[in-house]
Formats: sequence, C-alpha cells, structure tokens
Amino acid sequence: MSTIRIAHFSDTHVLSLNGVGPRRFLNKRWTGAVNLALNRSRHYRVDIFERLLSAVVDAQPDHSVCTGDLVNLALEPEFVRVSQLLNDAFDSSDLTVVPGNHDYYVKEAIAARLFETTFGLFQTRDVVVDEAEPYPVVRLLDDVAIVGLNSAIPTPVFLANGRIGDAQLDRFSSVMTDEQLGDRFRLMLVHHPLLPEPKRRLDSARRLYDAEGLIRTINTLGEHGPDLVVHGHNHEFKRMAVPGCETPIIQAASASRSGRKHRAEFNVYVIEGRTLKSIERYIHQPDSGAFLRCNEAGDPIG
Ligand SMILES: [Fe+2]
Repeated sequence: MSTIRIAHFSDTHVLSLNGVGPRRFLNKRWTGAVNLALNRSRHYRVDIFERLLSAVVDAQPDHSVCTGDLVNLALEPEFVRVSQLLNDAFDSSDLTVVPGNHDYYVKEAIAARLFETTFGLFQTRDVVVDEAEPYPVVRLLDDVAIVGLNSAIPTPVFLANGRIGDAQLDRFSSVMTDEQLGDRFRLMLVHHPLLPEPKRRLDSARRLYDAEGLIRTINTLGEHGPDLVVHGHNHEFKRMAVPGCETPIIQAASASRSGRKHRAEFNVYVIEGRTLKSIERYIHQPDSGAFLRCNEAGDPIG
C-alpha cells in the first residue's frame, strides 16, 4: 500500500497597505480595522511565511492544502503579495486552498470575488454538483480526495464567525456520496473550527454558527464521511475528534507567527489507505529560522 504525504498550512495573515490611499481609511470602521491589523502584523511575518513555503517544498509532499486567512484586510495588494508567494512555490496541481474570514474581511472583496479570482488556479472542482456554486472545491488525487468547504462570511470588523449554510452542506453530502471518490482517503478542509475553543478570548464571536449541522452531516455520511478534518482559525496545533464518529480533527497553527511561545508551523499528514498513520509537525526555530521536523507531540525526529 502506498504512503501519501499531504502538507497543511494556515492563517498567514499577510498585511500589505502598498498603494492603498489614506482616504480609504478615513471612516471609523476602517481606522479600527487598520489598527487591529497593524498590531496583528507585528506577530505575523511575511518573511517567516516565505521560509515556511521553502520548507514545505523541501518536505516534498504529494500535495499541499491551505485552510485560509491568507490575507489580513482583504485588500488587493495583499492578494497580489500572497499570489506571488504561492505561485513561486507551487504549480496549480500542487496546492488546494479554501478561504477564511480575513479573506472575506470586507464586502468589496467578496463582491469582486478577490479570493476566488486570485487563487482559482488552486481550487480544482473535479466533482461538480452545481456549476454556479464554487464550493465545495474537490480535488481527486490518485489515492486522496480533497473536499474543501467555504465557511467565510461577511461579519462586522470585531466578529470572526463563520457559516457553511444549508445549501453548501447539501452539496457537501452530494460530493461525498459521489462514486467518483471511490475508496480514496477523504480529507475535508474548512477554515473555522467545528468545536468551541474555551482558551480563546471571545470564543463565541469566533465560532462556526452551523457547526452542529456540519457534525450531524458528517455522522450521517457514515463510511462516505471524511477520514480527516483539518482547519485553522485558532493558531494552535491541536488534535480533536468529531463527536459521534471520532473522525480525527486537526487544528493547524499559524504559518507566519513569530516569537517563542506561539511558533509558525505546518503539518504533514502521513496517509495509508483510508487511515491517518501519523502527523509530522514542522516547527519554526526563531534563532536559525529553520523549520524543525517533529512528531505530533512536538519532539524533534531525525
Ligand atoms: Fe480566521
């Protein structure tokens, strides 16, 4: 049985105000958002993300996935910057992405479909339920089916909730029961967590509104359900399980976080058949800038 390795990174929060005139920030809402973003950008560094992308390429995964929050305020120059970085690191066949709440931060970005236009080359739809609806994205590799949901919705600046919506949940069920998926390992991507995170301040303002519906759907799917669910949003590595069916859920750390307490990371999922055999974590070392290969507990491995 062949072993497949899938890399996963998330929550890069790239900020770029290049060419964005001060007029745009005159109103109160934008002033608050920019202040928040500038504060956040001290902790999330593009140079660390660049090193991480090199480390992902060096790890030679069979495919890579990203679970959103690539940008910060959903401004055009941010999408341009991230697009350059991803295009330098990946061919369109090497990466699959879904958006997070920061990729949909402002209504203008959603209306202009900035995320989908910029990263559409990384959003294959090998199984289409409704031509008019871009999600779920579906990529069929030889042994792995990647199904990516969109949980990003427009919210007021100080909220970070998400929603999948009943219509997308129905399409998700249709995709998962499509015979084209066959006996492939089923990897589900979504930005928002399925379960509450009591450690996060203001957690109720950050949750997926219809997490219960998603959990119910996964349970209803039975053997057609995902074999692994991965998400971002909370910027900390954590293993959980879907209540009812115990499918593993992995929450990824941020891919650009600086500092010693919370470090930038990416994961590599080692898959055989329909089983997640192990997880390698590649953790940023602030002194050397390198990403050290570690086991799931965070201990270095050779
Ligand atoms: Fe997020």
